[in-house]
Amino acid sequence: MKELAGKTAFVTGAASGIGLGIATAFAQAGVKVMLCDIEEAALSSALEQLKRTNADVDGVLADVSLKDELEAAAKATIDRYGKVHILVNNAGVGGGGSYGTWRDAAWDWTMGVNLRSVIWGIEIFGPLIERHGEGGHIVSTASIAGLISGSSNAYNVSKYGVVALSEGLRVELAPRGIGVSLLCPAFVRTQITNYRRNLPQRFAGALAAPPPTSGPMATAIKMIRERVEQGVDPAYVGELVREGVENNWPYIFTDTEFEPLIEARFDAIKQGFDGIRGRKPKR
Ligand SMILES: NC(=O)c1ccc[n+]([C@@H]2O[C@H](COP(=O)([O-])OP(=O)(O)OC[C@H]3O[C@@H](n4cnc5c(N)ncnc54)[C@H](O)[C@@H]3O)[C@@H](O)[C@H]2O)c1
Repeated sequence: MKELAGKTAFVTGAASGIGLGIATAFAQAGVKVMLCDIEEAALSSALEQLKRTNADVDGVLADVSLKDELEAAAKATIDRYGKVHILVNNAGVGGGGSYGTWRDAAWDWTMGVNLRSVIWGIEIFGPLIERHGEGGHIVSTASIAGLISGSSNAYNVSKYGVVALSEGLRVELAPRGIGVSLLCPAFVRTQITNYRRNLPQRFAGALAAPPPTSGPMATAIKMIRERVEQGVDPAYVGELVREGVENNWPYIFTDTEFEPLIEARFDAIKQGFDGIRGRKPKR
């Protein structure tokens, strides 16, 4: 999508952080943006902030982990703007916990927001993008944790899912005039470490207790909080995403910090092949 001005985008998790950065960069490029979020107050203030710049933006409240709410948000987008060209599946929550602390509710919440909503977003918005024949683009926010896996199991599984879905759909949707990009941020200065603020009522009381405030786990969490606080500016990430959509980048990274760890994973996979190289498989 070389020419973004005049197009319409739907961005989830747009009231804060990376989503707001993306919505802002699109609006500055002349894109009409429907901001979607679960947090009413943050959404209102994001809209107020953007409208002061004369951006053509509107907002819709939805819990994207509920399909009917996402369908209603899509309808609100078409009612408001007539067409939609760009879908940004960005809403996300952390969590899930490491081995020994798993809860079904935590898996359901994390997988629902981070992966199911992406599947539904594409299912719902894909046909809306196709029907006007002007082409379009889908960006989904995974993470570096979608390419290398640590101990936040549900989060990593959800993000690997987003990577798998996007890599497959990039090939499948190209002939239909839809580009597909994966955003894989490293540390970005957002509210992500305070993700429990967005726990829907239906999961209240069903998660594990909040993580400990002392010990090795607490130290690791503190380190992550500090890295996020000193992370990349989400406005810069928004600009990268705009550039990625204009140029149909398959992967949008925010910096190169984790490139060696991703290379190490590729090496480990290659070693798996090396271990059986030259053998004749029994059939
Ligand atoms: N910040 C980072 O360092 C980082 C790194 C890698 C990946 N990410 C990913 O970036 C994306 C954006 O997160 P962020 O860092 O900007 O954090 P953030 O908490 O600032 O923003 C997330 C937004 O998603 C919204 N949201 C949460 N649950 C929702 C739901 N059920 N329905 C609708 N909206 C919902 C929140 O209200 C919030 O506005 C997430 O998918 C996250 O996993 C962030």
